[in-house]
Amino acid sequence: MIETKPDISLSKYAEQLRNGIVIAFPTETVYGLGADAWNADAVARIFELKGRPPDNPLIVHVNSAEMAGTLAVEISDDAKRLMECFWPGPLAIILPKRPEVLDIVTAGLPTVAIRMPDHPIPLRLIEEAGRPIAAPSANTSGRPSPTRAEHVRQDFGLDVPIIEGGSCQYGLESTVLDLSERPYTVLRPGHVTQSDIEEALLQPVRMTDMPGTSGTGAGPREATSPPRSPGMKYTHYAPDARVRWMRHDELPVPLQPAKNTLYLLHQVRNGNGPSNPACKIIRYDGIYEEMARDLYDRFRMADLQGFEEVAIEPFSTYPESAEALLNRIRKAIGD
Ligand code: TXA
Ligand code: MG
Repeated sequence: MIETKPDISLSKYAEQLRNGIVIAFPTETVYGLGADAWNADAVARIFELKGRPPDNPLIVHVNSAEMAGTLAVEISDDAKRLMECFWPGPLAIILPKRPEVLDIVTAGLPTVAIRMPDHPIPLRLIEEAGRPIAAPSANTSGRPSPTRAEHVRQDFGLDVPIIEGGSCQYGLESTVLDLSERPYTVLRPGHVTQSDIEEALLQPVRMTDMPGTSGTGAGPREATSPPRSPGMKYTHYAPDARVRWMRHDELPVPLQPAKNTLYLLHQVRNGNGPSNPACKIIRYDGIYEEMARDLYDRFRMADLQGFEEVAIEPFSTYPESAEALLNRIRKAIGD
């Protein structure tokens, strides 16, 4: 049910949403699996389709700061400032929720995560449906997030209507920022960085301690502490293939080393022996944005093509904007 016509009318999908149907749509980060945020049965269907644990809350998508005001008890000055700076865009903001916001959306938490996506399709969809859309990433639980309509179809077949929107601009999920408590905390790193937020708010913001976040530069990290964001405790973003770090000198084929170069290797193991040289090498040469955009597609490709291992060369110096990429790789490794 993928629509490919360039000037599709969204009215049909808006109508479906109003009728409680769950639909998949593109955003600038990843594809979302959305339902009318005010319809408990429709939201329940999202959990059912994904096989999502009920204690993992959803992000509610809006098309204006005013609509955010229908979900949050109060839009604080700091929240307003962030909306001005980063909305529409890949920043989900957690605020104390109004009592009307459904418990199933927030998994019973007293807070709600809200985001205004920077993509014409969901913005028009919300406008036409006249209501906010609760939407997690449109993958079955545990699978890498979908960055192309095809990925959604891999996980859901014809069970959900999919609005085709090509490849997602960023390819990794939004930054999740908890403004409900001080100090403010980044619960999930994304394209909007900790420094971006600190510069906007003129105050320090902390990065939550969780597997796959922050740390010590290169690939593998040392300490792990309990997660604070419900979603982060689950295995996420991982293909069936094993994902691991592999230094340049361990590469199964000779390659010219280059500073700040990334290799993504799909490596096939033969029976009992060590790795054979049947690997597929994808070089990113330090262009982290491209690797971020491709990562989940590469993971899914590895599985589809039967590769058993995805090896990624650790990167030792990287810009803060690559923190989200490093986080997702570490999550996939289970580091
Ligand atoms: O980029 C994105 O954010 C995409 C697109 C579709 O917008 N959505 C997405 O949703 O990644 P999902 O459900 O895959 O991830 C939402 C994350 C989860 O880790 C969840 O636990 C956390 O946000 N979250 C949602 N509401 C929360 C709340 N009230 N308190 C703490 N964490 C919350
Ligand atoms: Mg997700």
